[in-house]
Amino acid sequence: MPGASSTAPAAPAHPGPPTDPELTRLLWTEDLPREHGFEPLTIEGKLPASLRGTLYRNGPGLFGQFGVRYGHPFEADGAMTAIRIADGRATGASRITQSAGLREERAAGKLHYGISASWPRRVVNVWRGRQKNTANTSVVVWKGRVFALMEAGRPTEIEPHDLTTIGTTDLGVIRSMFSAHPHRVESRRAVYNFGLEYGRHTRIHLYELPDVGRARRLGAIELAAPPMLHDFIATDSHLIFFVSPVRVDLPRMLTQLGTFEQLFRWRPEHGTEIICVPIDRPSEVVRFTTEPFYQWHFANAFERDRQLIVDYVRYANFDSFGQLGCIATGRAADPLTDGRYHRASIDLAARTLRSTQISDRPCEFPTLAPGQHGREHDVAYAVFDDFTALGSIDARGTVVAHAVPGDERVTEPVFTAGHLLALCHTRERAFVAVYDAARIPEGPVAKIWLDHRVPITFHGVFEPDR
Ligand SMILES: [Fe+2]
Repeated sequence: MPGASSTAPAAPAHPGPPTDPELTRLLWTEDLPREHGFEPLTIEGKLPASLRGTLYRNGPGLFGQFGVRYGHPFEADGAMTAIRIADGRATGASRITQSAGLREERAAGKLHYGISASWPRRVVNVWRGRQKNTANTSVVVWKGRVFALMEAGRPTEIEPHDLTTIGTTDLGVIRSMFSAHPHRVESRRAVYNFGLEYGRHTRIHLYELPDVGRARRLGAIELAAPPMLHDFIATDSHLIFFVSPVRVDLPRMLTQLGTFEQLFRWRPEHGTEIICVPIDRPSEVVRFTTEPFYQWHFANAFERDRQLIVDYVRYANFDSFGQLGCIATGRAADPLTDGRYHRASIDLAARTLRSTQISDRPCEFPTLAPGQHGREHDVAYAVFDDFTALGSIDARGTVVAHAVPGDERVTEPVFTAGHLLALCHTRERAFVAVYDAARIPEGPVAKIWLDHRVPITFHGVFEPDR
């Protein structure tokens, strides 16, 4: 495999793992305790006057039904939580997304979908291509419309005024799936995304959602085998995929034997395929294979000196997927602790990738300030140290962070108007921590408290008031 390498610099000191396994269990296994529309929230501290808009967060909300647990947090029904901020005040709403599959199950009084449904039902679902679109992973706002996303289905439109569910849509172009990781490219005034198609052929379909005009499909790339593919990244000119060697286990999928985790297999002998697609010439794909590694999330990518530079959180293997499943059964502590921030350089002419670990601190959920996507950024923001710190990281690996108290957890930071907003958790309640992005180590300048717990959320966006 050509030109792959990885090095680790000296380790900065950082605290050990979190010490409250009960909070971890609550976040990853206990349902959203209360659904409601927008209602006033309690402010601790002073909300900056510059903050005007809505923070949308999405993640699992219902981890089982009818006394039966789902097999993995990824199977949970989604829940959207939104916090609306204006004039130093805030209101908040939380609702389970009412997918067609969930409504069908509730009407029948039993599970119809997922690995915990009856075996005959599961087999019929696979052969008939039926599944529940849980809408449990992320949020995208396009032309003022709010969509809850999960990677194995179409977008689910949500009513922004009360978070009720409108329904799924193909936006006029989506074949079957639409990943939960659309990426905006500022210079092109458009959002890009992909959707997998499984079947006799496995394809990555490429989509563009422009600020003006209709959504369009740019083309498709055929893959040698069906992977799990969670995220990608975009520069001004390229869409970049790291297709790690996680394969759908077709015999298990077709026979529905085994656990949810056993439907996907880590096959390191295949290596990770790098696929770079010129946005304006999507048929002129450059692809090659490098050493095996896994990633859930990218931070950014840009072009420099005829190279594509890619920042991402890298894992040596796919163990994190199994660790996520273990939480549901109480067999594991905090998940997603093995990822490390990397910077990769892709030489398109030589078809090589060189990747360097630039910090040894556990890191996940990297984000950027708006306007920096697709071009060279100054810092990325992320969660560090097993969900116990929030901070920034630069190209030298310098981390500027704030460690939250031991009885709290912090999630993906979202940047807006010079501030970072992060949904945080205690055992009893959730709150949005508001950080001054230039003074992160000083801790939040304000906290917006809900009066209930919220299960873990994966991703979200801040939609400024227009
Ligand atoms: Fe994700």
